[in-house]
Amino acid sequence: MLTRRRALAVLGAGLATPALLSFARKSAARPLLQPPPKPAAPAVYDIALEAKARNVKLLGPDGPESTVWTYGDELFPILRLKRGDRLRATIKNSLAEHTSIHWHGVRVPNDMDGVQYVTQRPVEPSESFMYDFPVPDTGTFFFHPHCNEVGQVGHGLAGVLIVEGDESRAFDDEVVLIAKDWRLDPDGSFLPFSTDSGAARAGTFGTLRTVNAVPKFMRKVPAAADIRLRILNLDSTRMMDVGIEGAEALIIAIDGNPLEPIALDSWRLGAASRLDLVVRTPKAGGKILVRDYFPAEIFNLAELEAEGPERRSTSFDPAPLYAPILPQPDPATAETQAFVFGAASDSIASFIDTLDPNDPLSKVILDELCTASRTFWAINKRSWPNDGHRNLPPPLARLKAGKSYRFTLQNATPHPHPIHLHGHTFKVLGSSKRSLPVHYADTVLVLPKERIEIAFVATPGKWMFHCHILEHLETGMMGYFANT
Ligand code: C2O
Ligand code: CU
Repeated sequence: MLTRRRALAVLGAGLATPALLSFARKSAARPLLQPPPKPAAPAVYDIALEAKARNVKLLGPDGPESTVWTYGDELFPILRLKRGDRLRATIKNSLAEHTSIHWHGVRVPNDMDGVQYVTQRPVEPSESFMYDFPVPDTGTFFFHPHCNEVGQVGHGLAGVLIVEGDESRAFDDEVVLIAKDWRLDPDGSFLPFSTDSGAARAGTFGTLRTVNAVPKFMRKVPAAADIRLRILNLDSTRMMDVGIEGAEALIIAIDGNPLEPIALDSWRLGAASRLDLVVRTPKAGGKILVRDYFPAEIFNLAELEAEGPERRSTSFDPAPLYAPILPQPDPATAETQAFVFGAASDSIASFIDTLDPNDPLSKVILDELCTASRTFWAINKRSWPNDGHRNLPPPLARLKAGKSYRFTLQNATPHPHPIHLHGHTFKVLGSSKRSLPVHYADTVLVLPKERIEIAFVATPGKWMFHCHILEHLETGMMGYFANT
């Protein structure tokens, strides 16, 4: 078995110690191209998504069945739209508990953001709700519920949203890799999704790793071709070091946002993050391994075997993607705010007292489903309330729509936290520990003792801000901004 250290040595590329991994190096600059205008008459994409339970054999064809929750008839449905299209997705709730859909990373109007009690009423059992919004940006996104996330996502409730229109020249093939672990007993039933010892540390890990819901994902790909890989870390907990063996690979987008291509050595992908690669496949019969070097024993995310006639004879130099079109934060006027991700201080009461009585949200009652009964974590010493029928806490801050902000995200814990801001695509400016390329993202991994700087232009509405290790957000590491 190849160890991680040895694999990194094999990958070579002059990497430093793992702690200082630069993860990626820039290849010859290939600037992004200016995108064509959005079509004048966007298409409307109607889809019905029924949240329901169904049985699948996650433990193999001869194993027992497990009752998963899905949107529709399969695990992880993939919706494909083009930039500017209008998505009309109607969720019908056939579960026994309320739910909603959050469109992770998509810059939706606030009332389409899918957060129970904050942006909409919960969709109760047997009720329906239609999400209706234009998709403004190209990229690899996903969607998931936002209450009892540990349980609902733990059962498999999630889907992928791909917004096309970023390729200036089409690739030869595309492979979507959805990584998600499951907490299963050998009899096929689910183990408790959360444990105190997990929630209070790096999270409770699954017992079975899968990609596209199988333990060993294999696929044929065209030979000597430029193929696009869309890798989604939809696990509730896991962090991965993604690398490729058997092919040259370039990072072309992070969280769906194109960047100048970077040669991939190994990229650390936290929960909820996405990575788009373009890979030149080998000659027919050759194999590519998509690997996760993070665990002690390397995990293969996918094995891709080349077949058929060779598609390209020129050297590997894929056409760059179109540049993202995002509001540009202004460094000169940006207001700086600091956020410390730490352990909970003991008092929930401290912020219940500070509620603004004029905020209509203060009248909204939270129910037990949205909260765990334990509090371990906090943002700036404030924990999301954990005790059922309480009022919504005051926002972490009230930002001005249209104004630029620069956030310092400081991890004061010994565990990594993938931090997600709803409704905005922010610019990751840099890290105190790693050399990261400047890039756009909606979720950024903040490692222990690391400080990450991000910047963005605020938009109006109430936007959640939380760790995407689902047990962490449910045990306190969540807040929101109220922007006007
Ligand atoms: Cu995928 Cu509130 O997040
Ligand atoms: Cu966390």
